[in-house]
Amino acid sequence: EQGFVATGPFARDEVGVYRNISTKGLSTTFPFTSNSLSQDDGILYGINTHNNSLIIFDRFRTENANMVVFAKSGGGKSFAVKLEILRSLMLGTDVIVLDPENEYKTLVDTVGGTYVNINLNSNERINPFDLPRALKDTETKSGDLLRGAVINLLGLMNLMLGKCTPSESSILEKAIITTYSLKGITMTDDDISGKEVPIMKDLYSVLETMDGAKGICERLEKYVTGIFSGVFSEPTNINLTDGLVVFSVRDLDDILRPIAMYMLLGYVWNVTRSSLRKRVLVVDEAWNIMQHEDSAKFLFGLVKRARKYGLGVTTITQDVEDFMGSPEGKAIVTNSSIQLLLKQSPASIDVLQNVFKLTEQEKYILLNSAVGQGLFFAGTEHVGIQVLASYFEEQVITTNPNATK
Ligand SMILES: Nc1ncnc2c1ncn2[C@@H]1O[C@H](COP(=O)(O)OP(=O)(O)OP(=O)(O)O)[C@@H](O)[C@H]1O
Ligand SMILES: [Mg+2]
Repeated sequence: EQGFVATGPFARDEVGVYRNISTKGLSTTFPFTSNSLSQDDGILYGINTHNNSLIIFDRFRTENANMVVFAKSGGGKSFAVKLEILRSLMLGTDVIVLDPENEYKTLVDTVGGTYVNINLNSNERINPFDLPRALKDTETKSGDLLRGAVINLLGLMNLMLGKCTPSESSILEKAIITTYSLKGITMTDDDISGKEVPIMKDLYSVLETMDGAKGICERLEKYVTGIFSGVFSEPTNINLTDGLVVFSVRDLDDILRPIAMYMLLGYVWNVTRSSLRKRVLVVDEAWNIMQHEDSAKFLFGLVKRARKYGLGVTTITQDVEDFMGSPEGKAIVTNSSIQLLLKQSPASIDVLQNVFKLTEQEKYILLNSAVGQGLFFAGTEHVGIQVLASYFEEQVITTNPNATK
């Protein structure tokens, strides 16, 4: 009888027999039943609302380490991603954030890390002409790096100068190649060791000598010597440190923000290719980038090729319709193994249902979920998720003005 009572849910042990148990044996008594999306290692994304098990997942073990996060404003996107950042940092993953809203400052202050505020008056500079240092043992042929850089710069010019005509583009292309070659960087020898990388001013000087480039010069001038010159016209003077690095672009005006985000993507891409590490790049409010074809293409290129370099890209957006409306947006979704959908507005639910093949029940969940609740897709697995932070974590990541004192 004492034995029977001891096994009942009364917390009464009348037998008093103790013995040691191995942790493996002990773990089988853990009261979470299902192991779907519970991996042995990885980080905790939340609670599986279908069966109360834990969603533990290592994004680097999937086909690609990319993730998309969709929800309406205030749905808990940044919160969920910050939680992931905190937990990833503990496992030694480096995290880089493009932050258009100054939302990640507290996080940097708490965990230590680098916060780079890109604005017209700051001293931090990134030079869009930078080239990556070629990694040994990769199949990069000579000229590949430079060719890539020229294409990226042409994209950047489209953003800076407004869409260029085909003839302007070809002038620019020649000018960019000449600018590099004046510094000894050519298609046959694009190793930058010991060489100086050109800056915007060098390109401007080359353009001044070219026929038909007058219009380009006029439009470029404000970035070289004019009002916007602070941001784009000097050699890079920052270093990507380990751990967490956040680039804030909130203080730039609406015209410059997408340009700076493009430039930052280019910078991150260069660093990624120069040293292999496990990294996550978070692009918050990604509609800033998706609204321009050139930067949308660039982001997609990065998402597609990231895996090879150990990079996982997290794309966050509230503008589901716009995002899905662009071919690059759709392609980013298909190239992301993990998809986190939180509370949605009725306006965007049909688009989502279409793209993610949601069942009626899933649709219902997304429309009616509370902040931090939604669906978590990894590959073919679909589960309901509740994103849950500990008290300490919540203090660090909340954007609710009442929650932080
Ligand atoms: N899982 C959660 N648990 C508790 N609070 C949460 C959770 N998710 C979000 N919140 C709170 O809800 C508010 C909005 O969250 P968050 O800033 O992440 O939204 P968002 O989707 O990024 O919105 P926006 O599109 O406006 O940037 C914040 O105050 C945040 O602290
Ligand atoms: Mg946010």
